[in-house]
Amino acid sequence: MNIVFMGLPGAGKGTQAEKIVEAFQLPHISTGDMFRSAISEGTPLGIEAKSYMDRGELVPDEVTIGIVNERLAKEDCKEGFLLDGFPRTVAQAEALENIMALSERKIDHVVYIHVDRELLIERLGGRWLSKSTGKIYHAKFNPPKVEGKCDITGEDLYQRPDDNPETVAKRLDVNIKEQQPLLDFYEQRGYLRTVNGDQDINKVFEDISNIVRGQL
Ligand code: AP5
Ligand code: MG
Repeated sequence: MNIVFMGLPGAGKGTQAEKIVEAFQLPHISTGDMFRSAISEGTPLGIEAKSYMDRGELVPDEVTIGIVNERLAKEDCKEGFLLDGFPRTVAQAEALENIMALSERKIDHVVYIHVDRELLIERLGGRWLSKSTGKIYHAKFNPPKVEGKCDITGEDLYQRPDDNPETVAKRLDVNIKEQQPLLDFYEQRGYLRTVNGDQDINKVFEDISNIVRGQL
């Protein structure tokens, strides 16, 4: 099962990916997480990606396509994968089609988690994360049991540097501009499945699970 999650910053891609990869036993490939790991390791990729991410801009296509191509060639992706946040441009979507064709695979579902822009600012402003587990919380919508602490490890939660109001506004503008041509690209190919992301987290999960199981 090869799945792509699309959605604006804060739509719930990572939150739903946590649940879907567990339920369907798929590797979770998040380009944002890959760039953040490279940044913490101080690699040349991380240094380059950081300059774009800090400004709320997209990392150039050739860099992003290169890391996804390498990742999808790994053994654990042979039986399926969940791509979170890639593709984000038509050039990336075309590259993904080529990668799939060359390895005789295909994308099964492109799940677009739709949430209106106005709701996303509050979601991103209240997001808190656990460094070691990657678990995603929200101060109001998905709070940890103890304020500021991870439920699993008890460690202090942190906020992403690109979740400040100025960078959030820029990320939303950039992603809104790129998103429509990409939705059209997948609509034309018949892959696109839209889910209402403005529902309880468990209801969104149920809707996506039904799509993945082919019931919707
Ligand atoms: P990335 O890390 O992918 O960030 P993003 O796309 O901006 O998306 P987010 O991770 O912010 O949001 P999400 O949809 O995962 O929401 P979440 O589940 O956390 O990319 C970061 C950067 O890397 C980009 O800006 C770019 O620079 C670069 N990059 C990455 N991929 C790239 C690519 N392909 N090409 C070029 N550059 C690329 O949820 C958000 C909050 O809402 C959480 O607090 C959560 O608890 C809460 N929440 C979730 N669901 C619900 C719900 N149903 N109801 C209420 N609250 C909810
Ligand atoms: Mg995410």
